[in-house]
Amino acid sequence: MTIDNDDCVVRFENIGFRYGLGPEVIQDVSFALAPGSFYFLTGASGAGKSSLLKLLYLAMKPSRGLITLFGRDIATTPRRELPALRRRVGVVFQEFRLLRHLSAFDNVALPLRVAGTREDNVSKHVAELLSWVGLKNQMKARPPTLSGGQQQRVAIARAVIARPKLLLADEPTGNVDDRMALRLMHLFEELNKLGTTIVIATHNESLVKRLGHSCLRLDGGQLEIGGPPPKRAAMAAASGAGGVAKPAIGAAAERPR
Ligand SMILES: Nc1ncnc2c1ncn2[C@@H]1O[C@H](COP(=O)(O)OP(=O)(O)OP(=O)(O)O)[C@@H](O)[C@H]1O
Ligand SMILES: [Mg+2]
Repeated sequence: MTIDNDDCVVRFENIGFRYGLGPEVIQDVSFALAPGSFYFLTGASGAGKSSLLKLLYLAMKPSRGLITLFGRDIATTPRRELPALRRRVGVVFQEFRLLRHLSAFDNVALPLRVAGTREDNVSKHVAELLSWVGLKNQMKARPPTLSGGQQQRVAIARAVIARPKLLLADEPTGNVDDRMALRLMHLFEELNKLGTTIVIATHNESLVKRLGHSCLRLDGGQLEIGGPPPKRAAMAAASGAGGVAKPAIGAAAERPR
């Protein structure tokens, strides 16, 4: 895949990564993600999916190689400029990382408030999105009082509400039933239609087959890039989440980020 550096959202060139003095968990990984692309990230437990996502959202630095995010070489970007780059990335963490002392509503509102969205718009967008993910009656609840699947939906709403340029999700449907998993995938697909590049780490092979997006597959530290798997007709129909109303996803930032 050749994409000009200026055009691609992410570029990894010969990336290696190890924790401390341990073995390399990611070895010689190179890929580029075009704007508006949609990838599943797969691989066995321990294959390095979360580690790769951590490199993508700049939580860790590679041991070797070059990472370019939104056309910027991360290694030479001044530290003070990294938070602005990070704000263009929405992340659904494997362990949610919600703020315990804030309500579900305030957790989801946070990215919009940081972006300077007017409070009347914040209320409207957050209420709409939380209702769409089935949490209309839990908006005032704090995360510790919610179930795992409910917390996961709050985490997803928080990650998508400000329409990030890049959305990274680590097992975002691991705690919900199949029906809700499809509904949440529909939300990611709608965000993708608005131009967001998406990378979703998952073990859920049936969802990967059903939705038919391209695949980044980690095995033994190496990355294979695959095209969409063939869709089965019946499953393809289901992937449109037939009859499900379109989600209204937040708002683009009101001031430049
Ligand atoms: N903080 C850490 N310190 C040391 N080693 C780690 C750390 N986090 C992960 N590892 C190791 O890195 C490798 C990749 O882990 P990672 O969490 O990226 O896998 P994963 O594909 O996300 O797995 P899962 O599907 O279970 O979430 C594993 O061998 C793991 O033991
Ligand atoms: Mg993981």
